[in-house]
Amino acid sequence: MGLLASGTGSILGAVLDAGVDVSVVVVDRKCAAIERAEAAAVPVEIVERTSFGSDFDRDGFTDEVVEVLGRHDVEVVVMAGFMTVLSAGAVDAFDGRVLNTHPSLLPSFPGAHGVRDALDYGVKVTGCTVHLATPDVDAGPILAQQAVPVLDDDTVESLHERIKSVERRLYPATIRSYLEQLEGAG
Ligand code: GRF
Repeated sequence: MGLLASGTGSILGAVLDAGVDVSVVVVDRKCAAIERAEAAAVPVEIVERTSFGSDFDRDGFTDEVVEVLGRHDVEVVVMAGFMTVLSAGAVDAFDGRVLNTHPSLLPSFPGAHGVRDALDYGVKVTGCTVHLATPDVDAGPILAQQAVPVLDDDTVESLHERIKSVERRLYPATIRSYLEQLEGAG
């Protein structure tokens, strides 16, 4: 399994702590996820995203990520807060075996600001969604979902942390049962 991350790596840490066998962690920038992976002796590959502008070569970047994952014999990809949207080629390259966790109850509030958008909208309940990735962002068959209450005094940070505490349990459990199903089918 290959895991993609860009952030603090707390979801990555939970996946590793759950004993899921990760053969490589790929990051698109320098981030705390690197130290988390190194602490667990998991190889880290940095495919650095050098542009966030309109000149960003998304297909080229995706090819590089796929190539790196291939070098580590990855068959299943798990996204854990990877902040670069990959081209459709990534999902195709792994025959759709790409999982993602998103901090909202999809299909509500997709995108990079799911927590902020839910808070701004004023919903009283949000949550997290584990789903199979498709070429469309934050779309695809839902594998697991859990609701999380929004409190009156929540900030984006406090709400995101409450959601992440659920993701850290739900994501590893869902990855495990997905892998079991794959093994059963294979
Ligand atoms: C999670 O909320 C995940 O759903 C989102 O990014 C966050 C990653 O958290 N896509 P962390 O960097 O692992 O703490």
